[in-house]
Parts: sequence; structure tokens; C-alpha cells
Amino acid sequence: MTKNINTQYALSILSEDSAIVERYLDTLYTGAGKCDGQLDASARYSLMAGGKRVRPSLTLEFCRMLCGDISRAVELAAAVEMLHTSTLIHDDMPALDNDELRRGKPTNHKVFGEATALLAGDAMAIDAFKVLISNSSLPADTRLLAVKYLSEAAGESGVMRGQMIDKYGESHELTLDELLALHAHKTGALIRVAAQLGVLAAGFGEDSAEMHDAIEYAERIGLAFQIVDDVLDATSTSDTLGKSVGGDAALCKNTFLSFYSVEEAESYAARLTEEAVEHIRKYREHERLVVLAEFLAVRKY
Ligand code: IPE
Ligand code: IPE
Ligand code: MG
Ligand code: MG
Ligand code: MG
Repeated sequence: MTKNINTQYALSILSEDSAIVERYLDTLYTGAGKCDGQLDASARYSLMAGGKRVRPSLTLEFCRMLCGDISRAVELAAAVEMLHTSTLIHDDMPALDNDELRRGKPTNHKVFGEATALLAGDAMAIDAFKVLISNSSLPADTRLLAVKYLSEAAGESGVMRGQMIDKYGESHELTLDELLALHAHKTGALIRVAAQLGVLAAGFGEDSAEMHDAIEYAERIGLAFQIVDDVLDATSTSDTLGKSVGGDAALCKNTFLSFYSVEEAESYAARLTEEAVEHIRKYREHERLVVLAEFLAVRKY
């Protein structure tokens, strides 16, 4: 039986949360025009190019579900989006995926050149921590924990390890377990930390049941998110996605479609989503995070 997904509701949540986080992001990298203005222009170009803003939405929505004051979560949400955008700038560069289209526009290095794209991506990843640590609406120990979580998600134990396995996989056949590790690191880690930061902003700590439930939910939707990304790379168009397609096959990447058919991969993502939402149904205000998870598993872009 096909599930009835409330796409309009999901899109309205994403759009409401995007507006909140973009108001903050828009205050950054405003120095274009100075002698080093290309750095700001390059960073701003990718950061303000749109995107679904899924990760900051998760931060805001976890805070909201746990009855937190979402104004205290804005900088945390922005920091995750900055880290994510920095990884996209680098992911598109010739040394990695060598892509030409991102968020509906030419990739950063195509516009600003490789040196500037490299530096803007580096700057943005580091500035994300500046944004986190200077969020004065949260106690110092909460900010410190946020920095710990984001550094774990972004660095050697997170996205960078995933990207390295992804690169290695271009010339080696991975096992399914290795592919699962790849996805958990390159994509799952930032989705997981987005949820964790929302829990922190709502005032719940490292060992709370709320943190545990957020992690269970986010790990599942994170894997589902990359499964769908793998499927869309093989089945969608660059017009629909706003980014290059077909690169996974062209670069001999290991993806979910190395192991499963499109239909099997879609069922896998649906199953993960059902499991994910079971971990948050006990919370009174769970509806928006359920709607978001269900939409992400069937998204077309
Ligand atoms: C793309 O992420 C990279 C992956 C981890 C699959 P998104 O699909 O969230 O990209 P934007 O932020 O909407 O551009
Ligand atoms: C990259 O995964 C995820 C990161 C940027 C870390 P992909 O290479 O599959 O992402 P897309 O398809 O280019 O967005
Ligand atoms: Mg890649
Ligand atoms: Mg890529
Ligand atoms: Mg992809």
C-alpha cells in the first residue's frame, strides 16, 4: 500500500525553518568588494544559493519538539548548514567529484577558481565553530558540547572519513558493511549532529533519553537520505535536482545501487523511516519531525 505523504506540510516546515536560518546566514560574508573580497563572495555564493536546508530544519525542529526556545537554536542550525555547505564546495572540486552544477548554479570552483573555492570551503568549515561558540544565548558548557559534537561529525571520525572511503571506493569494490560505514560517515554524521544540536538547544544533555531518541531517529533518516541521493543520481535529471547527475556511475562509485535495485533501495529507505519515527512518537509534538522524515524518504530533489 502506498503511504500518503504530506508533501505540502513538509515543504512548509522546510520553508519556515529556512527563512529563520537564512536571516542569520545572510549576515555572514558581507565583505565582498574589499581587496580580498573574493573570499566572502565565494563563501556567500554557495551559502546563499538555497538548498533544502534539511539539517538546520532538523536542529530547529528537535528544539521545537522538546519545547525549547528555537531562537536559541538558530546559530547551532546555521553552523551545521555552514559545515554542510563547506563539504559541498569541496565535494564538487576536481579532486573529488568534479561536478559543474550545485544548488541550481555553476559550482563554486567553476565561478571563483579552485584556489578560492578551497579557501572559502575551509573558511566556512572553521567559521561554523566560531558561530557555535559565540552563541551567547546558551550556557558555556552547552556550547562546548556542541563544538565537541560538530567536530566529531565533521572531522576524521565523520564526514572526512566518509569522503575518504568514497574516494577509495572509486577504485575498490566495497562490501555492504563498508558502504553502510561510508554513508554513515559522509552523510549520516551531519544529519545526526543536526538533531543532537537541537536537543542541546532545548536544554537536554548528553545522557538524556531525548538525546538518545534523537540519535536513533537521525541515524536512520541519515542513511535513508543518502540511499535516496544514490537513487536520484541514477534516475533523476540535473534540472530537477539542481546538481549534476550520473557522476556516481561515471566515477564507478560504490552506492546503494551496487547492491540493490531502485525499488529495493526505496523500500529500504521507507523501512528506515518507519523505524526512525517510532523513536520520537512518544513526544507530544512529534508530528513535524514525522512529516519531515516521511517526505525526505520520497523526495524527488
Ligand atoms: C547533498 O545534500 C549532499 C549529500 C549529503 C547527499 P543535500 O541534498 O541536503 O543538499 P542541499 O543542501 O539541499 O543542496
Ligand atoms: C557527498 O555525497 C556528501 C558530502 C558532501 C560530504 P555525494 O557526493 O553523493 O553528494 P552529491 O550527490 O554530490 O550532492
Ligand atoms: Mg561525493
Ligand atoms: Mg558529489
Ligand atoms: Mg550523490
